[in-house]
Amino acid sequence: MGALSVFSRPLPISRRQFLGSLASVAGLTGFYTWRIEPEWLEIVEHDLPIAHLPPALAGKTLVQLSDLHIGLQVSDDYIRRTFATVAALAPDFVVHTGDLVSYDNPAILEQARALLETFPRGKLGTVAILGNHDYGLHWAEIKVADRVAALLTGAGARVLRNESAFIGGLQFMGCDDLWTNQFHPARALQQLAPRQPTIVLCHNPDGCDEPGWGDYEGWILAGHTHGGQCKPPFLPPPLLPVKNRRYTAGEIAVDDKRRLYISRGVGHLLRVRFNVRPEVTVFRLVPA
Ligand SMILES: [Fe+2]
Repeated sequence: MGALSVFSRPLPISRRQFLGSLASVAGLTGFYTWRIEPEWLEIVEHDLPIAHLPPALAGKTLVQLSDLHIGLQVSDDYIRRTFATVAALAPDFVVHTGDLVSYDNPAILEQARALLETFPRGKLGTVAILGNHDYGLHWAEIKVADRVAALLTGAGARVLRNESAFIGGLQFMGCDDLWTNQFHPARALQQLAPRQPTIVLCHNPDGCDEPGWGDYEGWILAGHTHGGQCKPPFLPPPLLPVKNRRYTAGEIAVDDKRRLYISRGVGHLLRVRFNVRPEVTVFRLVPA
């Protein structure tokens, strides 16, 4: 009887007020998801324990930029502000782990060239790899990828496409992209000198599950997922462009030899992010 009287009591607000409040919340959430979070950059700090790290490199910083997606969806002003933020950090190394552009037409390359005039460089080295969106329409235009690589080279980055190189005292191995059938880690592994401080860059984290990694032991820095861009609280993101659903974002153990770090990226495909803020990662090199 008591419970019935509670339920039959009229609501303290009218149905119209209730629906109005609901519409306001939906509107504010939509505004936040569209206008606020996609450019609300988070600086994430993370230690990076490296085997065989020389004492001179202990404590040095490595900034990972990923998935800038320069193009129609990401504002130039946001990219410029991100570059200025990274430059102010005065990092020792800067890496970019693919998807510099969202290629749509040749004008995007000119847009990228102009923005890269202020691309932040590391004091000791700057390294880049390519992602699927750097490969033009249908991710199949090798000539577009070559032009994106040339733009990055012009901006002071060493572009590694299935190759390894010593840069600033670290050995970097850069994989080319998986979805474009250019992914051949075994080629780059052949060039790796043993017992050297080594970091691997691989755009698509699914590449970690492909054959060809041999005895590689250490870190792999990746991007590509954007963390799913939208994620309900306490649940995994519903949309993730990887086969291995473990590969969302952050630090993940691939196996007992390899550790993966997936950046949530700076840019976006469609301009929506919810509960997955864009990221610039600042790693501090420490001896393993
Ligand atoms: Fe991307």
